[in-house]
Amino acid sequence: MSRRRIIAGNWKMNKTPSEAVELVNTLKDLVKNDDVDVVYCVPAIDIVPVAEAIKGSNVQLGAENFYIEDKGAFTGEISAPMLKDAGVKYIIIGHSERRDIFGENDILINKKVKKAFASGLSPILCCGESLELREAGVYEEWIRRQIKWDLDGLTADQVSNLVIAYEPIWAIGTGKTATADQAQEVCKLIRDYIAELYDAATAEAVRIQYGGSMNAANAAELLSKPDIDGGLIGGASLKPDFGQIVNA
Ligand code: 13P
Repeated sequence: MSRRRIIAGNWKMNKTPSEAVELVNTLKDLVKNDDVDVVYCVPAIDIVPVAEAIKGSNVQLGAENFYIEDKGAFTGEISAPMLKDAGVKYIIIGHSERRDIFGENDILINKKVKKAFASGLSPILCCGESLELREAGVYEEWIRRQIKWDLDGLTADQVSNLVIAYEPIWAIGTGKTATADQAQEVCKLIRDYIAELYDAATAEAVRIQYGGSMNAANAAELLSKPDIDGGLIGGASLKPDFGQIVNA
């Protein structure tokens, strides 16, 4: 198994531009690790200063959102060419906060994934079930449905280059992490489903992260699981703990 680990911070709506540069500098020596992809997904306004601040380091730049058109009358939006030009490599798509608070559905999310690939950005596609769905025992069907819709029309080559983040909504920002076994179960389910939709080689190549209250204390156990190739980290990505997760 030769998948490269990817540890990404999702800063969400935190850090002003000057605070962002300060955080990059605080983390600089802590996140050094050439065996891992280290990514900071930052608010749009922080992209330019963070691009400058990470120069010469092992950190790669990510964004949290974009719109599917290249330019035009879309007040308040930011396009893939703008992100590319600013040095962005990864783009988070389909985060549960975008789905639930901003009403993004699987049709738009699928368009975003396709647009990201067409623009040379690497999508980090998020999926995950609510507490109700987990308690009702239908999370497996739910995840399969999200994956089916969100990957619709993608080639095996594209899926091989995809990062999927499994983020159970009940574990996001709650301090309630999925156990390593629960996270592994769903990450494996996603990989098996991709083998069904595509083929074994594609399933073997796709990188799958866990996200939801991942921190310095639980990262090593989660990352030791065979189908968990990394993490998408919210709260703990804003603290020195992020360095411990990178090096877990
Ligand atoms: P927390 O790590 O704060 O639970 O957030 C997870 C998340 O939503 C990352 O995208």
